[in-house]
Amino acid sequence: MKDVSGAASGRYRRATTVARAGNDPYEFHGFVNPPVVHASTVLFPDVETSVNRTQRYQYGRRGTPTTDALCNVMNALEGSDATFLVPTGLAACTVPLASATKAGDRVLVVDNAYAPTRKFCNGFLTRFGVEVVYFDPLDIETYDRLLEKPTAVVFLEAPGSLTFEVPDVPLLAQKAKAVGATVMLDNTWASPLYFRPLDHGCDISMHAATKYLGGHSDLLLGTISGNGEAIEKVRETWDEWGEHVAPDDVYLTLRGIKTLDVRLERHARNAMIVAEWLAADPRVDRVLYPALPGAPGHEIWKRDFTGATGLFGFTLKGTREAAARVVDTLEIFGIGFSWGGFESLATLPNVQAVRSATAWPEDEQVIRIHIGLEDPQDLIEDLEKGLATLG
Ligand SMILES: Cc1ncc(COP(=O)(O)O)c(C=O)c1O
Repeated sequence: MKDVSGAASGRYRRATTVARAGNDPYEFHGFVNPPVVHASTVLFPDVETSVNRTQRYQYGRRGTPTTDALCNVMNALEGSDATFLVPTGLAACTVPLASATKAGDRVLVVDNAYAPTRKFCNGFLTRFGVEVVYFDPLDIETYDRLLEKPTAVVFLEAPGSLTFEVPDVPLLAQKAKAVGATVMLDNTWASPLYFRPLDHGCDISMHAATKYLGGHSDLLLGTISGNGEAIEKVRETWDEWGEHVAPDDVYLTLRGIKTLDVRLERHARNAMIVAEWLAADPRVDRVLYPALPGAPGHEIWKRDFTGATGLFGFTLKGTREAAARVVDTLEIFGIGFSWGGFESLATLPNVQAVRSATAWPEDEQVIRIHIGLEDPQDLIEDLEKGLATLG
């Protein structure tokens, strides 16, 4: 009898883990992929089993062989004890925040968090009596001062949304843990291949699997992975809120992960070619790609991350209207909010509208681009057409 449990559980190197972790084919007739189980009802052989819940699967909402396969992959990649699946990347951020707080608590949230995460903090958390304080991840002195007051949670994102600052995660996490706070990090940009938050002192790592894990812009899904008491609290809230994910989207995510390693290598290679071209262009003010030598945060990125992906920003000095003309002129780059798929995208966010603890210069326009799997020379020629509108 063949034993593939090592590959299925992720005991091997990264490429082997993404290709093979998740399911043991011999548990399902040898089919290499797990079954897509559409289920609510699960039958029990007798009353005693149903009362004592000694059976592996009990009800569709609580897990199936399909969801288990994805949770196993994520545990292997993140180094976590447990993973919970939620319908969106946003839910992957909100469920842990809700699970770790109660009325009267105070949370510190990084100022460059994904904007809808901020909306949840300003809305739901605040309404339920949690004090939300935003902080600049690069200002350690202020962070130290903020931690002098009782703090339930420190919420991080690395690098930051839209502006790509790279926080010193081990330092921020260690300081937060020293005062008893739960540390959670939105790890969507790096994917679990290029950054493992739990190895750097965090309790919980979240992903919008919508992005690189799925990789084809055809699904929405979130994952929450962690260790110890923090993930047990997530388990309770996840269960109480009745979180459930569509089996087909879980399957598509598993399928996406099989090629994650090779896709990300190409995204990163293309992104570096485009970033270097932008950095050499005098019309471009700054390139916000942590993997680019000399870019903001590069040294910390090099120390803590094992790779980079295809999402970054570049800035133009001038008016928003001029930057909008650049984006409108692009033909290959679509204008779209998501990222992580095969296609290149560009957006012109209003950074200052989603910041409160840090300032962003009014005349510095950020164009956020996602570099897809197209030929980078075509992308450069497209960007040249856009930049030519600056005159
Ligand atoms: C960093 C980050 N986290 C979370 C999300 C939310 O993902 P979803 O769209 O699946 O809710 C996004 C989406 O753009 C994101 O960029």
